[in-house]
Amino acid sequence: MNEKQLVGEKAAEFVKEGMVVGLGTGSTVFYTLKKLGQLVKEGLSIKGIPTSKQTEKLAEEFGIPLINFREIDSIDIAIDGADEVDPKMNLIKGGGGALLREKIIAHAAKKFIVVADPSKAVNRLGQFPLPVEIIPFGFEMTIKHISSQGLSPKLRQKNGTKFITDNGNYIADCVLPKELDLKIAEQLLNMIPGVAENGLFLGMADTVVTLDKDKNILLKERS
Ligand code: 5RP
Repeated sequence: MNEKQLVGEKAAEFVKEGMVVGLGTGSTVFYTLKKLGQLVKEGLSIKGIPTSKQTEKLAEEFGIPLINFREIDSIDIAIDGADEVDPKMNLIKGGGGALLREKIIAHAAKKFIVVADPSKAVNRLGQFPLPVEIIPFGFEMTIKHISSQGLSPKLRQKNGTKFITDNGNYIADCVLPKELDLKIAEQLLNMIPGVAENGLFLGMADTVVTLDKDKNILLKERS
């Protein structure tokens, strides 16, 4: 079993009967979705809220019943991947471009579980470019404002054209300067009109499901 599968499947064990489950996006949580689909077939009753169109499609394929925000008051648990995880369990997310929906769902969840193989662990966030979702109106100006904060944004491209998120927005992949405090970076970005959301998930993860050096499951809990 590959590392993503090991952590992805383990996270499905946190899901209990009757729960409303935030369903993350990416190649690690893919295995969680697959496992949940199997458990549903075996009788588990849950409702999922997907963080992307891609995940919505997968959930339907795997037979996970979906629910929407109108029908619920809260989300019991959200399970999602990460691009980087620091020792305090702060995250960079959005490599797949789903960060806005992912943050809405993680924020609404009573428990936020992150599935991350050991390659995602870093001492300091920022080796992976920080994805920032920006709205198309005036995006050239928004990019200049991000740039003036020293974050060197680069508009994400896909197949030679601008990458478009599920929300119809663009992604600016940014450089996090080493000397910049993460909280300050988050505040600076949130203050720029045109920024819809940033991929810093600070203090949000409750549990990180990862592996130790012998490939045994390691659960890290927020202290
Ligand atoms: C998508 C994300 C993903 O969770 C993140 O990119 C990790 O993906 P993977 O599990 O494929 O490495 O934030 O927006």
